[in-house]
Amino acid sequence: IPQGIDLRAEIDRLRKERNAVILGHYYQKPEIQDLSDFVGDSLELSRKAAETDADVIAFCGVRFMAETAKILSPEKIVVLPDMDAGCSLEDSCPPAQFKAFREAHPDHIALSYINCSAEVKALSDIIVTSSSAEKILAQIPKDQKIIFGPDKHLGGYLKRKLGRDMLLWPGVCIVHEAFSETELLKLKAQHPGAPVAAHPECPPHIVDHADYIGSTSGILEFSKTMPGDTLIVATEPHIIHQMQKAVPEKNFIGAPGADGNCNCNICPYMALNTMEKLYLALRDLQPRIEMEEGLRLAAKKSLDRMLEMAS
Ligand code: 13P
Ligand code: SF4
Repeated sequence: IPQGIDLRAEIDRLRKERNAVILGHYYQKPEIQDLSDFVGDSLELSRKAAETDADVIAFCGVRFMAETAKILSPEKIVVLPDMDAGCSLEDSCPPAQFKAFREAHPDHIALSYINCSAEVKALSDIIVTSSSAEKILAQIPKDQKIIFGPDKHLGGYLKRKLGRDMLLWPGVCIVHEAFSETELLKLKAQHPGAPVAAHPECPPHIVDHADYIGSTSGILEFSKTMPGDTLIVATEPHIIHQMQKAVPEKNFIGAPGADGNCNCNICPYMALNTMEKLYLALRDLQPRIEMEEGLRLAAKKSLDRMLEMAS
């Protein structure tokens, strides 16, 4: 990278030159959120990737999100600033083991959380996101047996909320697992009456204390309409940037981990993307998502079902 370069100006120049759209997730660093053409949750970002007429999608999120963009927009160049930006949920679900799990339950359909590899998507019938899962599950006949993976906490939350029995894959998000119930209760005691908003990737001992449970975009909406002036936020703390922009007069506090602060809940994978790496990705059109066409088409089926059923 040339010395003294104005990264923001260079990114803006390259975005025009390449006819690129920059898609950013709410868990990205504030400077990346602020320069993104669109910031959203997993479902919204998938929709944007499917609809865009840009030539290049620069995906500021994690690899399964950029892969989803490539599956839905194969003619586009999709770059991810850091190819190591994975996800613990994806890692927890190796395709060969998931295939064996499916084969052991031939009378079940497989509903999979979008946080999984393209291979697992190809082995699944329908993909869901945290903002679409309830709507999609409601459309599946009650007597249909279901395997749900890879997030056991989202799956468990859906089972409890909708009263549906599902076989769960035992994956977890390391970020949402790290919240401490003891520290959360201490924080609640310090802010009497302050509501708690939690992502359904959190374990039951955290969501049980939540006044609102939903996707990142759902939590952001709640922050705009909630009663009172203080909100405790039990999801990745970079989303607080959008809340402060939307309602600057309110006070947003990240839910704590065992050490009493929210820094242990920063997603280490999302944090790999930086302004420098985004600049290089737009300049070099690398690292690029490539996918074998047979795999892409197989994975697209379950993603298309999601887009139809969530609309
Ligand atoms: P949503 O933005 O769809 O709520 O997902 C959260 C998440 O963990 C993405 O990795
Ligand atoms: Fe994966 Fe959790 Fe990071 Fe989301 S926050 S990308 S689910 S590890």
